[in-house]
Amino acid sequence: MTKPKLLLTGAAGRIGRAISPALEERWDVAATDLPGTGLAELDVTDLAACRQACAGMDAVVHMAGVPDPNADWDALLPANVVGTHHIARAAMDRGVRRLVLASSAQAVAGYPPGRQLRAEDRVRPPNLYGATKAWAEAIGSWAASSSDTTVVVLRIGFFAERPPKGADATPRNMAAWLSHRDAARLVVAAVEADNVRYFVANGISANRYQHLDLTTTRNTIGYAPLDDAWA
Ligand SMILES: NC(=O)c1ccc[n+]([C@@H]2O[C@H](COP(=O)([O-])OP(=O)(O)OC[C@H]3O[C@@H](n4cnc5c(N)ncnc54)[C@H](O)[C@@H]3O)[C@@H](O)[C@H]2O)c1
Repeated sequence: MTKPKLLLTGAAGRIGRAISPALEERWDVAATDLPGTGLAELDVTDLAACRQACAGMDAVVHMAGVPDPNADWDALLPANVVGTHHIARAAMDRGVRRLVLASSAQAVAGYPPGRQLRAEDRVRPPNLYGATKAWAEAIGSWAASSSDTTVVVLRIGFFAERPPKGADATPRNMAAWLSHRDAARLVVAAVEADNVRYFVANGISANRYQHLDLTTTRNTIGYAPLDDAWA
């Protein structure tokens, strides 16, 4: 049986590399990134190239971007602002069934510390990077409201293969940890979930203490994480 086709942007990045094997088990994956990464080339700032890459795709997982909370406007504008629009526009134009966008816990990091955040909480970015992730959430809402493309946006926490250690092992980072295998489970759930038009999901592992509450994420897209930063 032929597998449905899935376009992965930013596939040479940390998350792209970690989730690719799980995606390839289920989909015929077009793994793309910037020239020089050894993958098929797709610069998401090129709208025509995004339209070409989205043709025939069942799903698009958009991981291309600058992941730095300290990045400035010049660094963020091309991939995070322009590129997120272009990949959504292209997915809509090509009738892609499901678009998965990478937001971040930074989109809601402006709330007072110590508060657990629900997937339903409105965006409150404390930095420009987080504001570009709020933009991604807004772009997802626009796409899902004005086309047949349905959208799941992921508020990704502290992504790392192992639980944070040393200076990184703050209570917040521990409680926000997303392991590699749970990242793969999260993205698979986001692509496969039925009966979703637009949903913002929280993306952390099954940590004993949870910076981002997983209740509606589990219930809405069936995400079932396995790892615990304190185990
Ligand atoms: N790593 C984390 O802890 C974390 C946390 C929250 C959210 N996120 C988000 O998840 C996504 C992936 O993060 P990551 O950690 O894999 O980042 P990464 O920097 O490791 O990978 C991003 C990839 O995007 C590619 N890219 C950049 N500009 C591009 C462009 N114009 N066209 C095509 N590709 C381009 C880069 O070459 C790189 O391979 C990002 O959107 C990031 O903001 C990451």
